[in-house]
Amino acid sequence: MTIATLRPGLQPRLLMCPPRHFAVTYSINPWMDPAQWADGAADLRACAARQWTALESALHEAGAAIETVAPREGLPDLVFTANAAVVLDRKALLARFRHPERQGEQPVFAAGFRALAARGLLDAVIEPPEYAVLEGAGDCIFDKRRGLFWLGSGFRSDAAAARLIEDTFGVPCLALTLADARHYHLDTALCALPCGSVIYFPAAFSAAALDLLHSHVAPHERIALGPADAARFAANAVCVGRTVVLSGCGETLRRRLEERGYTVVQTPLNAFMRSGGSACCLTLRLDHASEAAGAQSMLARRAAGLR
Ligand code: ARG
Repeated sequence: MTIATLRPGLQPRLLMCPPRHFAVTYSINPWMDPAQWADGAADLRACAARQWTALESALHEAGAAIETVAPREGLPDLVFTANAAVVLDRKALLARFRHPERQGEQPVFAAGFRALAARGLLDAVIEPPEYAVLEGAGDCIFDKRRGLFWLGSGFRSDAAAARLIEDTFGVPCLALTLADARHYHLDTALCALPCGSVIYFPAAFSAAALDLLHSHVAPHERIALGPADAARFAANAVCVGRTVVLSGCGETLRRRLEERGYTVVQTPLNAFMRSGGSACCLTLRLDHASEAAGAQSMLARRAAGLR
Protein backbone atom coordinates (compact mmCIF):
# COMPACT_ATOMS: atom_id res chain seq x y z
CA MET A 1 0.00 0.00 0.00
CA THR A 2 1.35 3.43 -0.82
CA ILE A 3 0.61 6.75 0.81
CA ALA A 4 -1.17 7.92 -2.33
CA THR A 5 -3.82 5.19 -2.01
CA LEU A 6 -4.78 6.18 1.54
CA ARG A 7 -7.21 8.96 2.36
CA PRO A 8 -5.35 11.52 4.55
CA GLY A 9 -7.47 10.84 7.65
CA LEU A 10 -6.89 7.10 7.31
CA GLN A 11 -3.12 7.11 7.03
CA PRO A 12 -1.57 5.13 9.90
CA ARG A 13 0.38 7.50 12.14
CA LEU A 14 3.22 6.37 14.39
CA LEU A 15 5.15 8.15 17.13
CA MET A 16 8.89 7.45 17.27
CA CYS A 17 11.93 8.94 19.04
CA PRO A 18 15.36 9.11 17.33
CA PRO A 19 18.02 7.12 19.24
CA ARG A 20 20.52 9.96 19.78
CA HIS A 21 20.79 9.13 23.50
CA PHE A 22 19.95 5.43 23.30
CA ALA A 23 22.25 3.16 25.33
CA VAL A 24 22.08 0.37 27.89
CA THR A 25 23.14 2.09 31.10
CA TYR A 26 20.99 0.16 33.62
CA SER A 27 19.26 -3.19 33.76
CA ILE A 28 15.51 -3.54 34.29
CA ASN A 29 14.96 -6.66 32.19
CA PRO A 30 17.03 -9.80 31.48
CA TRP A 31 18.19 -8.54 28.06
CA MET A 32 19.96 -5.46 29.44
CA ASP A 33 23.68 -5.77 30.25
CA PRO A 34 25.31 -2.34 30.75
CA ALA A 35 28.85 -3.79 30.95
CA GLN A 36 28.46 -5.56 27.61
CA TRP A 37 27.05 -2.41 26.04
CA ALA A 38 29.94 -0.34 27.40
CA ASP A 39 32.40 -2.75 25.73
CA GLY A 40 31.19 -1.85 22.26
CA ALA A 41 29.39 1.42 22.93
CA ALA A 42 30.65 3.46 19.96
CA ASP A 43 29.85 0.76 17.39
CA LEU A 44 26.55 -0.10 19.03
CA ARG A 45 25.45 3.52 19.03
CA ALA A 46 26.23 3.84 15.33
CA CYS A 47 24.49 0.54 14.64
CA ALA A 48 21.38 1.67 16.57
CA ALA A 49 21.25 4.90 14.55
CA ARG A 50 21.43 2.99 11.24
CA GLN A 51 18.89 0.38 12.31
CA TRP A 52 16.41 2.98 13.59
CA THR A 53 16.63 4.94 10.32
CA ALA A 54 16.06 1.76 8.33
CA LEU A 55 13.00 0.95 10.46
CA GLU A 56 11.62 4.44 9.98
CA SER A 57 12.09 4.14 6.20
CA ALA A 58 10.42 0.72 6.10
CA LEU A 59 7.40 2.06 8.01
CA HIS A 60 7.18 5.14 5.81
CA GLU A 61 7.47 2.98 2.72
CA ALA A 62 4.62 0.81 4.04
CA GLY A 63 2.41 3.92 4.19
CA ALA A 64 2.78 5.29 7.73
CA ALA A 65 3.17 8.95 8.68
CA ILE A 66 5.90 9.32 11.32
CA GLU A 67 5.73 11.82 14.19
CA THR A 68 8.69 12.20 16.52
CA VAL A 69 9.36 13.20 20.07
CA ALA A 70 12.79 14.82 20.64
CA PRO A 71 15.39 12.61 22.37
CA ARG A 72 16.64 13.68 25.78
CA GLU A 73 20.04 13.03 27.33
CA GLY A 74 19.87 10.76 30.37
CA LEU A 75 16.71 8.99 29.13
CA PRO A 76 18.11 6.14 27.02
CA ASP A 77 14.80 4.21 26.85
CA LEU A 78 12.80 7.18 25.52
CA VAL A 79 13.22 5.52 22.08
CA PHE A 80 10.65 2.93 23.16
CA THR A 81 7.64 5.13 22.46
CA ALA A 82 5.26 2.15 22.64
CA ASN A 83 5.49 2.62 26.40
CA ALA A 84 4.55 6.32 26.34
CA ALA A 85 0.75 6.00 26.46
CA VAL A 86 -2.30 3.99 25.46
CA VAL A 87 -4.01 5.75 22.54
CA LEU A 88 -7.47 5.10 21.13
CA ASP A 89 -10.11 7.29 19.47
CA ARG A 90 -7.82 10.38 19.65
CA LYS A 91 -7.41 10.01 23.45
CA ALA A 92 -4.00 9.35 25.03
CA LEU A 93 -3.78 7.89 28.53
CA LEU A 94 -0.22 8.64 29.65
CA ALA A 95 1.96 5.89 31.10
CA ARG A 96 3.07 5.45 34.69
CA PHE A 97 6.34 3.49 34.75
CA ARG A 98 7.26 0.86 37.32
CA HIS A 99 11.01 1.54 37.50
CA PRO A 100 12.51 4.87 38.62
CA GLU A 101 14.98 4.53 35.70
CA ARG A 102 12.11 5.26 33.28
CA GLN A 103 9.94 7.57 35.35
CA GLY A 104 11.84 10.62 34.07
CA GLU A 105 10.30 9.91 30.65
CA GLN A 106 6.78 10.72 31.89
CA PRO A 107 6.98 14.55 31.72
CA VAL A 108 8.82 14.40 28.39
CA PHE A 109 6.13 12.22 26.81
CA ALA A 110 3.39 14.33 28.45
CA ALA A 111 4.78 17.45 26.74
CA GLY A 112 5.08 15.52 23.47
CA PHE A 113 1.43 14.46 23.58
CA ARG A 114 0.26 17.96 24.44
CA ALA A 115 2.13 19.20 21.37
CA LEU A 116 0.35 16.56 19.25
CA ALA A 117 -2.99 17.70 20.70
CA ALA A 118 -2.14 21.34 19.93
CA ARG A 119 -1.58 20.29 16.30
CA GLY A 120 -5.03 18.67 16.23
CA LEU A 121 -3.76 15.06 16.11
CA LEU A 122 -5.32 14.16 19.50
CA ASP A 123 -8.37 15.44 21.41
CA ALA A 124 -7.42 14.50 24.97
CA VAL A 125 -4.26 13.81 26.96
CA ILE A 126 -5.07 12.11 30.26
CA GLU A 127 -2.72 11.94 33.27
CA PRO A 128 -2.41 8.45 34.76
CA PRO A 129 -3.90 7.96 38.23
CA GLU A 130 -1.57 7.20 41.17
CA TYR A 131 -2.90 3.72 41.87
CA ALA A 132 -1.87 1.81 38.76
CA VAL A 133 1.34 1.19 36.86
CA LEU A 134 0.60 1.07 33.16
CA GLU A 135 3.46 1.02 30.66
CA GLY A 136 1.49 2.22 27.66
CA ALA A 137 0.77 0.27 24.51
CA GLY A 138 3.82 -1.92 25.18
CA ASP A 139 1.60 -3.70 27.71
CA CYS A 140 -1.82 -2.77 26.35
CA ILE A 141 -2.47 -3.89 22.80
CA PHE A 142 -5.55 -2.85 20.85
CA ASP A 143 -7.13 -5.78 18.99
CA LYS A 144 -9.10 -3.96 16.34
CA ARG A 145 -10.88 -7.02 14.98
CA ARG A 146 -12.24 -7.98 18.42
CA GLY A 147 -12.78 -4.39 19.60
CA LEU A 148 -10.82 -4.91 22.83
CA PHE A 149 -7.52 -4.34 24.58
CA TRP A 150 -5.19 -7.11 25.78
CA LEU A 151 -3.28 -6.06 28.91
CA GLY A 152 -0.03 -7.74 29.98
CA SER A 153 0.64 -7.88 33.71
CA GLY A 154 3.03 -9.61 36.07
CA PHE A 155 6.27 -7.75 35.40
CA ARG A 156 5.46 -4.10 34.62
CA SER A 157 1.81 -3.06 34.35
CA ASP A 158 -0.72 -3.82 37.09
CA ALA A 159 -3.69 -6.05 36.25
CA ALA A 160 -5.79 -3.38 38.01
CA ALA A 161 -5.11 -1.08 35.05
CA ALA A 162 -7.64 -3.13 33.01
CA ARG A 163 -10.52 -1.37 34.75
CA LEU A 164 -8.89 2.00 34.17
CA ILE A 165 -8.59 1.22 30.45
CA GLU A 166 -12.25 0.17 30.23
CA ASP A 167 -13.41 3.30 32.05
CA THR A 168 -11.21 5.57 29.94
CA PHE A 169 -11.90 4.15 26.51
CA GLY A 170 -15.23 2.31 26.87
CA VAL A 171 -13.91 -0.90 25.36
CA PRO A 172 -13.24 -4.23 27.11
CA CYS A 173 -9.75 -4.91 28.42
CA LEU A 174 -8.67 -8.48 29.14
CA ALA A 175 -5.66 -9.01 31.42
CA LEU A 176 -3.12 -11.71 30.56
CA THR A 177 -0.53 -12.71 33.17
CA LEU A 178 2.96 -12.92 31.73
CA ALA A 179 5.12 -15.75 33.07
CA ASP A 180 8.58 -15.37 31.48
CA ALA A 181 10.82 -12.46 32.51
CA ARG A 182 12.31 -12.30 29.01
CA HIS A 183 8.82 -11.35 27.80
CA TYR A 184 8.16 -8.73 30.45
CA HIS A 185 6.01 -6.53 28.18
CA LEU A 186 3.01 -7.96 26.32
CA ASP A 187 4.22 -6.65 22.93
CA THR A 188 7.28 -8.91 23.18
CA ALA A 189 4.95 -11.92 23.11
CA LEU A 190 1.78 -10.93 21.23
CA CYS A 191 0.76 -9.06 18.11
CA ALA A 192 -2.92 -8.72 17.13
CA LEU A 193 -3.19 -8.39 13.36
CA PRO A 194 -6.05 -6.42 11.76
CA CYS A 195 -7.44 -9.59 10.08
CA GLY A 196 -8.05 -11.19 13.50
CA SER A 197 -5.01 -13.47 13.50
CA VAL A 198 -2.83 -13.20 16.58
CA ILE A 199 0.92 -13.87 16.62
CA TYR A 200 1.90 -15.06 20.12
CA PHE A 201 4.50 -17.01 22.06
CA PRO A 202 2.57 -19.49 24.24
CA ALA A 203 5.41 -20.05 26.75
CA ALA A 204 5.32 -16.37 27.73
CA PHE A 205 1.86 -16.70 29.32
CA SER A 206 0.43 -18.27 32.46
CA ALA A 207 -1.90 -21.24 31.93
CA ALA A 208 -4.95 -19.09 32.79
CA ALA A 209 -3.83 -16.37 30.37
CA LEU A 210 -3.46 -18.92 27.56
CA ASP A 211 -6.96 -20.26 28.27
CA LEU A 212 -8.37 -16.73 28.10
CA LEU A 213 -6.50 -15.98 24.88
CA HIS A 214 -7.65 -19.25 23.30
CA SER A 215 -11.25 -18.61 24.31
CA HIS A 216 -11.23 -15.46 22.16
CA VAL A 217 -8.90 -16.47 19.34
CA ALA A 218 -10.06 -19.44 17.24
CA PRO A 219 -7.48 -22.13 16.32
CA HIS A 220 -7.24 -20.96 12.68
CA GLU A 221 -6.49 -17.42 13.92
CA ARG A 222 -3.56 -18.49 16.14
CA ILE A 223 -0.02 -18.02 14.91
CA ALA A 224 2.02 -19.59 17.71
CA LEU A 225 5.74 -18.88 17.70
CA GLY A 226 8.50 -21.29 18.57
CA PRO A 227 11.39 -20.27 20.83
CA ALA A 228 13.66 -19.22 17.92
CA ASP A 229 11.18 -16.67 16.52
CA ALA A 230 10.28 -15.53 20.05
CA ALA A 231 13.95 -14.91 20.86
CA ARG A 232 14.35 -12.71 17.79
CA PHE A 233 11.30 -10.68 18.81
CA ALA A 234 9.16 -11.80 15.86
CA ALA A 235 6.02 -11.07 17.92
CA ASN A 236 7.21 -7.48 18.31
CA ALA A 237 5.93 -6.62 14.84
CA VAL A 238 4.34 -3.46 13.45
CA CYS A 239 1.51 -3.88 10.97
CA VAL A 240 0.91 -0.98 8.57
CA GLY A 241 -1.84 -1.71 6.06
CA ARG A 242 -0.93 -5.18 4.75
CA THR A 243 2.78 -4.88 5.57
CA VAL A 244 4.23 -6.52 8.68
CA VAL A 245 7.55 -4.97 9.71
CA LEU A 246 9.72 -6.93 12.12
CA SER A 247 13.31 -7.44 13.12
CA GLY A 248 13.55 -11.00 11.84
CA CYS A 249 11.58 -14.21 11.44
CA GLY A 250 11.90 -17.77 10.19
CA GLU A 251 10.63 -19.06 6.87
CA THR A 252 7.54 -20.74 8.38
CA LEU A 253 6.30 -17.56 10.05
CA ARG A 254 6.92 -15.57 6.90
CA ARG A 255 4.86 -18.08 4.89
CA ARG A 256 2.02 -18.09 7.43
CA LEU A 257 1.82 -14.30 7.24
CA GLU A 258 1.99 -14.28 3.45
CA GLU A 259 -0.82 -16.85 3.28
CA ARG A 260 -2.96 -14.30 5.13
CA GLY A 261 -2.15 -11.62 2.58
CA TYR A 262 0.67 -9.78 4.36
CA THR A 263 4.00 -8.67 2.96
CA VAL A 264 6.75 -9.28 5.52
CA VAL A 265 9.58 -6.75 5.78
CA GLN A 266 12.55 -7.75 7.93
CA THR A 267 14.76 -4.97 9.22
CA PRO A 268 17.40 -5.98 11.79
CA LEU A 269 17.12 -4.28 15.19
CA ASN A 270 19.65 -6.23 17.24
CA ALA A 271 21.14 -3.07 18.82
CA PHE A 272 17.73 -2.43 20.42
CA MET A 273 17.27 -6.06 21.42
CA ARG A 274 20.16 -5.48 23.83
CA SER A 275 17.69 -3.31 25.71
CA GLY A 276 14.84 -5.82 25.35
CA GLY A 277 13.06 -4.02 22.53
CA SER A 278 12.41 -4.26 18.80
CA ALA A 279 10.14 -2.87 16.05
CA CYS A 280 6.85 -2.53 17.90
CA CYS A 281 8.51 -1.11 21.04
CA LEU A 282 10.05 1.65 18.93
CA THR A 283 6.65 2.87 17.68
CA LEU A 284 3.32 3.99 19.05
CA ARG A 285 0.20 3.93 16.92
CA LEU A 286 -1.63 7.27 17.26
CA ASP A 287 -4.65 6.62 15.05
CA HIS A 288 -6.29 3.45 16.41
CA ALA A 289 -10.08 3.81 16.36
CA SER A 290 -12.65 1.56 17.99
CA GLU A 291 -15.79 0.48 16.29
CA ALA A 292 -17.69 1.76 19.28
CA ALA A 293 -20.86 -0.28 18.76
CA GLY A 294 -19.18 -3.71 18.95
CA ALA A 295 -17.05 -2.79 21.96
CA GLN A 296 -19.96 -1.35 23.90
CA SER A 297 -22.14 -4.36 23.25
CA MET A 298 -19.45 -6.63 24.72
CA LEU A 299 -19.23 -4.42 27.82
CA ALA A 300 -23.02 -4.41 28.09
CA ARG A 301 -23.17 -8.21 27.78
CA ARG A 302 -20.59 -8.47 30.53
CA ALA A 303 -22.51 -6.04 32.75
CA ALA A 304 -25.57 -8.27 32.28
CA GLY A 305 -23.53 -11.27 33.45
CA LEU A 306 -23.20 -12.84 30.00
CA ARG A 307 -19.92 -13.71 28.23
N1 ARG B 1 14.68 -1.22 28.16
C1 ARG B 1 13.27 -0.99 28.04
C2 ARG B 1 12.56 -1.44 29.30
O1 ARG B 1 12.98 -2.38 29.91
C3 ARG B 1 12.73 -1.68 26.83
C4 ARG B 1 11.30 -1.38 26.57
C5 ARG B 1 10.75 -2.12 25.39
N2 ARG B 1 9.44 -1.68 25.08
C6 ARG B 1 8.41 -2.47 24.82
N3 ARG B 1 7.30 -1.92 24.46
N4 ARG B 1 8.48 -3.76 24.99
O2 ARG B 1 11.58 -0.85 29.71
